[in-house]
Amino acid sequence: MRLSGKVALVTGATGGIGEAITRRLAGEGARVVVTDVDAERCKTLAAELPDALALALDVTSEEVWRATVAQVEADLGGLTVLVNNAGIGEPANVETETLETWEKVIAVSQRGVWLGMKHAGAAIERAGGGSIVNIASIFGTVGGFGTHFSYHAAKGAVRLMTKNAALHWGKRGVRVNSVHPGFIETPLSRQLWEGSPRHTAMVDGTPLGRLGRTDEVAGAVAFLASEDASFVTGSELYVDGGWTAR
Ligand code: NAI
Repeated sequence: MRLSGKVALVTGATGGIGEAITRRLAGEGARVVVTDVDAERCKTLAAELPDALALALDVTSEEVWRATVAQVEADLGGLTVLVNNAGIGEPANVETETLETWEKVIAVSQRGVWLGMKHAGAAIERAGGGSIVNIASIFGTVGGFGTHFSYHAAKGAVRLMTKNAALHWGKRGVRVNSVHPGFIETPLSRQLWEGSPRHTAMVDGTPLGRLGRTDEVAGAVAFLASEDASFVTGSELYVDGGWTAR
C-alpha cells in the first residue's frame, strides 16, 4: 500500500495500458481519478475500485483540464499524482502524413501531455508535492520502422518536455519522469498486429523474446508515483524487453 494517501489522476484510463495502470495504483492504495473521453467507460471501471472518481476528460482541451483539476481539488482535497497516459497514433510516414493526421496526433499525444502537466502540476505543487508520469514510447527515442511519423514527433517531445518540466519543478516538490513502453500486448494491438509480419518483427527484435504485458508498464508507473522514487526526476524508464539496448 505504498500509494495510500495519494490521489492519482490517470488519462486514457480505460484503454489497454491505462486500465492496468489505474488498477495498479488503486491496488497500491491510491484514490484514483479515472478519466477518458467516454464517461460511461470511466464509470464502469471506477465502480470496481475503492473510492475512485470517474470523470470525462478530453486531454486536448485546456478548458476541460482546468475544470477537471478544480473538481478533483474540491471533491478529493488535492491531487498528488498525474499519469499522462492518453495517446494516439497514425501509421503514415514522413511523406504520407497529412496536416489533418499530424494535428490530430499532436493534439492528443503532445499537447494533451503539456496541458496535463501545466494544470495538474500546479495542483500537485499546491498539495505539497508529488509525481507526474508521462507515458512516452520507445518510439520517442528511436526511429522505429520509419512509419508513424507524427507519433514519433509527439513521443520524442514528451520525452524532452518531461526533462524540461522536471528542471522547472525540481525544488518545488514535483517530480516528472517518462515511461517508455516497448511493444505491449493490448486488446487493440492484438487485433492490429497478431499474425502479421510486423508482429514477428516486434517479437524477434525484442531481446526478451516476447511482447510486454500491460501490468509490466503499470509496475513502472507505480514505482515512479511512489516515494520509492523520491530521488528520481527527469529520467526515462524503458519497459521494452531490451528493444532500445541494441
Ligand atoms: P489504447 O488505444 O488502448 O488507449 C488509449 C486511450 O486513450 C483510450 O482509452 C482512448 O479513449 C484514450 N484517448 C484517446 N484520445 C483521447 C483524448 N483526446 N483525451 C483523453 N483520452 C483519449 O492505447 P494503449 O496501448 O493502452 O496506449 C496507452 C499509452 O501507451 C499511449 O500513450 C500509447 O502511445 C503508449 N504506448 C503504447 C504501446 C503499446 O504497445 N500498446 C507502446 C508504447 C507506448
